[in-house]
Amino acid sequence: MMTYNAKAYSAASATFQLASTTIPRRGPTEHDVQIEILFCGICHSDLHQVRNEWSGVMPTVYPIVPGHEIVGRVTKVGSEVNKYKPGDLAGVGCLVDSDRTCPQCKAGLEQFCPSLVLTYNGPDKYLGGVTYGGYSNSIVVDEHFVLSVPGNLELAGAGPLLCAGITTYSPMRHWGVSKGKKVGVVGLGGLGHMAVKFAHAFGAHTVVFTTSPNKKDDALRLGADEVVVSRNADEMKKHAGSFDFILDAVAADHDINAYINLLGRDGNITLVGAPEKPLAVAAFGLIMGRHSLSGSPIGGIAETQEMLDFCGKHNITADVEVIPIQKVNEAYERLLKSDVKYRFSIDMASLKSE
Ligand SMILES: NC(=O)c1ccc[n+]([C@@H]2O[C@H](COP(=O)([O-])OP(=O)(O)OC[C@H]3O[C@@H](n4cnc5c(N)ncnc54)[C@H](OP(=O)(O)O)[C@@H]3O)[C@@H](O)[C@H]2O)c1
Ligand SMILES: [Zn+2]
Ligand SMILES: [Zn+2]
Repeated sequence: MMTYNAKAYSAASATFQLASTTIPRRGPTEHDVQIEILFCGICHSDLHQVRNEWSGVMPTVYPIVPGHEIVGRVTKVGSEVNKYKPGDLAGVGCLVDSDRTCPQCKAGLEQFCPSLVLTYNGPDKYLGGVTYGGYSNSIVVDEHFVLSVPGNLELAGAGPLLCAGITTYSPMRHWGVSKGKKVGVVGLGGLGHMAVKFAHAFGAHTVVFTTSPNKKDDALRLGADEVVVSRNADEMKKHAGSFDFILDAVAADHDINAYINLLGRDGNITLVGAPEKPLAVAAFGLIMGRHSLSGSPIGGIAETQEMLDFCGKHNITADVEVIPIQKVNEAYERLLKSDVKYRFSIDMASLKSE
């Protein structure tokens, strides 16, 4: 198989920093789209996996090239590709392949396919080894897994829609977030701030729970109707038993029972945050009020396109701090301190000097 070299940043082990490297990419086959990556968002999942914090579920294979919030321009397409042509804006999220034949794929829910291939650290059936993600200047992806990015969206802020966007959009659609519903968002980071924008756009009464009092004004600007500093027990108590739905987007250990107790009858709390350690759940918090606790992973390709089109129509993008790739390790340290406003987006032009 024809390959070419792409520039990238990779980590050699869980304790190494990300550093400049070159990686092989396959030359586009007949169904492939080759994309010049212009921006890639930094998801907290990148950090979890670079540090092998999900070793029990998906152990990291090194070297790892993270990145699944990719936007760029199509440079080349295979002979059978008809959805894209060179020059088009294109996006790639967390998925680059699946079997396309199982019931989940047939239902357009590729995120549940037993043979789904993640954008990085997934089995690469073309080149062997594992897939390499978006901290790179180029990527080649089957056209089915390439998304069309609305032309009116600011590109640096559009990248994060491919993971943070769909991961929050999908469960809120599934659980019927809409006008008349009271909705909570826990953790105002990359995912959380997108959840606030969507909940607001869907017309729900939106309440942000944050551990960072200094994010209060931003939360209101992003579309929250109310902001609760979650470390303040009195503020929390005021909302007891009142929520239809809560989205928990926290990346670290925290007390989820405090939020379960804020649900109204038949209320649901959905976890999208994936902390390293298991969370403790008190049974009575669920029993009383017939509350439910669930989780949700990203979204399928069709819904991801629906979300991007929705964002195009409502001019929704992530609030980003654009950084050169040379600052990626520093950005990771800031994520750990909840010091993110509200997504880092890597300007891939910075790879040219490597
Ligand atoms: N389910 C999926 O498919 C999926 C997809 C993408 C990401 N994720 C996961 O979702 C989580 C969030 O990702 P992200 O990229 O949005 O991360 P992020 O930008 O780092 O945001 C996480 C936020 O959680 C809050 N937080 C952090 N530490 C906390 C603590 N000890 N106690 C309470 N709150 C804390 C902070 O918000 P405040 O400052 O407001 O408190 C922080 O900004 C990660 O675990 C990530 O792996 C899951
Ligand atoms: Zn992600
Ligand atoms: Zn499948």
